[in-house]
Amino acid sequence: MADHGMSKGLTNYGDKGFSRYLRTAFAKAMGYTDEDLSKPIVGVVNTYSEFNACHRGFKELAEAVKRGVWQGGGLPIEFPTISLGEPFLHPTSMLFRNLMAMDTEEMLRAQPVDAVVLMGGCDKTVPAQLMAAASAGIPALCVVAGPMITGSYQGERLGACTDCRRFWGEHRAGRIDEPTIRGIESNLAPTAGTCMVMGTASTMACVTETLGMMLPGGAAIPAVHADRIRHAEESGRAACRLAARGITPERIMTAQAFENAARVLLAIGGSTNGVIHLTAVAGRLGIALAPELFDRLSEETPLLLNLKPSGQHYMEDFHKAGGMELILQELKPKLHLNCLTVTGQTLGERLSRPYAHPDWQDVVATAQEPLQEKGGLAVLRGNLCPDGAVIKRSAASPKLMRHEGRAVVFEDLEDLARRIDDPNLDVNAEDILVLKNAGPRGAPGMPESGYLPIPKKLAAQGVKDMVRISDARMSGTAFGTIVLHIAPEAAIGGLLGLVQSGDRIRLDVDARVLQLLVDEQTLAARRKQHVPRVTEAPRGYLKLHLEQVQQAHLGCDLAFLRPPVTQILTGPLPRGK
Ligand code: FES
Repeated sequence: MADHGMSKGLTNYGDKGFSRYLRTAFAKAMGYTDEDLSKPIVGVVNTYSEFNACHRGFKELAEAVKRGVWQGGGLPIEFPTISLGEPFLHPTSMLFRNLMAMDTEEMLRAQPVDAVVLMGGCDKTVPAQLMAAASAGIPALCVVAGPMITGSYQGERLGACTDCRRFWGEHRAGRIDEPTIRGIESNLAPTAGTCMVMGTASTMACVTETLGMMLPGGAAIPAVHADRIRHAEESGRAACRLAARGITPERIMTAQAFENAARVLLAIGGSTNGVIHLTAVAGRLGIALAPELFDRLSEETPLLLNLKPSGQHYMEDFHKAGGMELILQELKPKLHLNCLTVTGQTLGERLSRPYAHPDWQDVVATAQEPLQEKGGLAVLRGNLCPDGAVIKRSAASPKLMRHEGRAVVFEDLEDLARRIDDPNLDVNAEDILVLKNAGPRGAPGMPESGYLPIPKKLAAQGVKDMVRISDARMSGTAFGTIVLHIAPEAAIGGLLGLVQSGDRIRLDVDARVLQLLVDEQTLAARRKQHVPRVTEAPRGYLKLHLEQVQQAHLGCDLAFLRPPVTQILTGPLPRGK
């Protein structure tokens, strides 16, 4: 009995003939004919959920994918998995990324699919699906929701979520009144689709296209644009070809492809979360992306994309300008062109047509005249972060990139919420705000709380940025001089846990240093007294997470889901290999 289509992975009843007969009987209950059931099966993972506004358009999009599968000669079978809608999850969606990856991986393996179209979009969904695809080893391609188009309020163009934070900051400082903030609230997210700035969703969409796991052009098409439907339909047809050729994700997501993706992440001013997610996906294939890889690539990769929060434009403008094709063409001399993609072509074949930079647009710059000579990220080391920390320098204030200041410490998120706006808080604009216990285990789930708010009394004086450090993450849509992903985190005994208010801290981004300026003797005495804050869970997924979650520099995956490391990338690979 052939091991594909409806005969693939039969249910164990001890009699294969019976298993196939029973499966067919129940499949026929869905109305399929014998002819339908003889076709290759393309699973369509639809993560539509009414708790996921970003995926609001997925019913229509799934129909387009399925139409494409029928056209390609396959049998499309749609099924759900967990969906993660960023603002709807407590304590943070990141806690559930690995759960979604497990759910997706297991359903890809357990159900009879010859290839799969993974429909994701909102921040953690695409990384989870890529991790699942890598581990399941089934031919897969991604279709993302696409970005929202921008809204406006009283004549001002608005985009989630950079403008969400900017206006909220103004409201906190008392410069925007209640009716105005409510009016803005109604216009920040005006359509289906993902956040329309270079947040995590846009970053992961661009990274996925670069990896070769999405059809060309799919990253930037707005969710409500008709091109999105045409792209979904073409993806359905492509999935049938992928099934026929049996091209599995590990043939596409190679070390060279991850280097390409990391480079693009830097050239687009991508979210710091993208570093964690890309590291996690690569880890599923035994490829370790060292923090230094991102730092070294950043030094030699220009910032090309003029998109908020680093620049001015929004994703719909990026699409109109030409989308990822422009970024990839500009970076072509630095990319590994022999990487296979889901079309069956290599990246080099994709980029082989004549290219001239379109001068009529100012969204994508040329490699010769980039927006910045270097990429957006830097990796810090020092006694506070021996396993690394990340700063998005393209979103930081130049005058704070080299700064020494007094620590103002918050023990955890509750402490932060309780005291940050206290008029008696001993803080000034030169201080460094420190948040502890917000890492993968400490919070738990490493929430996007690294964007510590400016204390209200300083915000009211016009202070717009301060150095802020934590073991948390930050939304890719945020802006400021913010050090994130400190590893090891405070909750597992990292030095961050020993910092006290009044300590001096030195940040020097050019020198890649984050240092707690407290002598060893004092630290040793503090360490003796210190009891790391341990989060415990008696049962369930949280217990598994707490026992297994890895630190930020390893991608925050669950340790038992990763195969042994076979390749470590600390810098660019030789070209042509
Ligand atoms: Fe879904 Fe921003 S909330 S992408």
